Amino acid sequence: MIKTFQFNYTEYSHLQDTPSHIQKLMECAQKAREKAYAPYSEFLVGAAIIDNENNIYTGNNQENAAYPSGLCAERVAIFHAASQLPSAVFTDMAISVRSLKKKIDYPTAPCGACRQVLAEYENNQSRNIRIFFMGEEGPIIEVPSVKELLPFIFNSDSL
Ligand code: THU
Repeated sequence: MIKTFQFNYTEYSHLQDTPSHIQKLMECAQKAREKAYAPYSEFLVGAAIIDNENNIYTGNNQENAAYPSGLCAERVAIFHAASQLPSAVFTDMAISVRSLKKKIDYPTAPCGACRQVLAEYENNQSRNIRIFFMGEEGPIIEVPSVKELLPFIFNSDSL
């Protein structure tokens, strides 16, 4: 039997079209992005996550001469947040990228490892985490939950 995964997502043409708290969150991600340590890829990523009490935590990619030892912006942000607020209920994450090599004017989604890490926290709380992502400029995509970014998710329910 053939089955189908389907989900709805929203594309906004301009940041000003997103809810005002998302504009602010994306601005935090953009600010964090500019402090990324990415001398090897020259691909700067910033992430900002907010909880239901309006606490915002940011992160950016941290690279390393031993390449796999580095960490993506999304994981730096959520680990930072969860380490400070272990019982936070996260509502939204904003992600923005900028390359020093070319103009990125299209949305760039979080990598698989980051999706897996975000899913852990989403699964532990009562509500979805919305993910908003964009390039240096151009449209913004909103995905309503991490689950939708990760079909056939593996989480603690699988154990
Ligand atoms: N990167 C992120 O920070 N987040 C992602 O979701 C994808 C990739 C970083 C890792 C590395 O520092 C650079 O972008 C190029 O892959």
